[in-house]
Amino acid sequence: MSDVVIGIIGGSGLYQIAGLEGAEWRGATTPWGAPSDDLLHGELDGTPMVFLPRHGRGHVHTPTSVPYRANVAAMKAAGVTHLVSVSACGSFRDDMAPGEFVIVDQFIDRTFARDKTFFGPGLVAHVSVAHPVCPALSSACAAAARAGGATVHEGGTYLAMEGPQFSTLAESRLYRDVWGCDVIGMTNMPEAKLAREAELHYASVAMITDYDSWHPDHGAVQITEIIETLHGNAARAAAMVAALPRLVTAPCEAGCHTALEHAIMTAPEARDP
Ligand code: ADE
Repeated sequence: MSDVVIGIIGGSGLYQIAGLEGAEWRGATTPWGAPSDDLLHGELDGTPMVFLPRHGRGHVHTPTSVPYRANVAAMKAAGVTHLVSVSACGSFRDDMAPGEFVIVDQFIDRTFARDKTFFGPGLVAHVSVAHPVCPALSSACAAAARAGGATVHEGGTYLAMEGPQFSTLAESRLYRDVWGCDVIGMTNMPEAKLAREAELHYASVAMITDYDSWHPDHGAVQITEIIETLHGNAARAAAMVAALPRLVTAPCEAGCHTALEHAIMTAPEARDP
């Protein structure tokens, strides 16, 4: 569909999109600084696509140093309407196993060292993130991931932690047993909140790489285990991206693209010029 531009922010294990027609890396700047890397522009099946590696090529950004505002702003400025986050996560559930994909629909944001809004003094806005993902885009991602051969869980609560260290056993048990979280990762927040402020349709595809540290039959999570599973997931992630253009339609009925309509508090005459 011609008014759809799909943006992909790829996490650990996804550093480019294969098969993009007319692929070209282009630099970008935003009022919030430079994004993690240049943006890769191209087309898949006639749909414009823009890709950004969240940690930069070569994996140079920590989860805390990722320039989340610049990344979302650069995607918006590139004309992206639908933003798909691909990332690695740990699982808190026996029935959500490494190698499987979760289409996240809720978050608990425990990050604390990141800029979380485009707004501030001079222009104050309180946008709703009660339903933080776009249901239509999430369904499209689920269908695309299945078409790509993945086992997919639709819906799950993602605990966003600051990192870069993994959780202690006590934290892992708290998130799982007390808070009822399904998966854990370090990068989906504040990305999801910023995407809502930018009035983008946003969906999160979390690829399970480990059982964090709670599981009695598995040792505490190690980065080597994560990388091994990510390599196994790479082909399925690529196949999911390839299937997306024919499944994404616009706009959704949830109003992601008009999220700011009633959110700005500052009177027009009091706004910074
Ligand atoms: N990313 C992948 N696995 C993770 C885990 N167990 N905790 C936080 N982030 C992760």
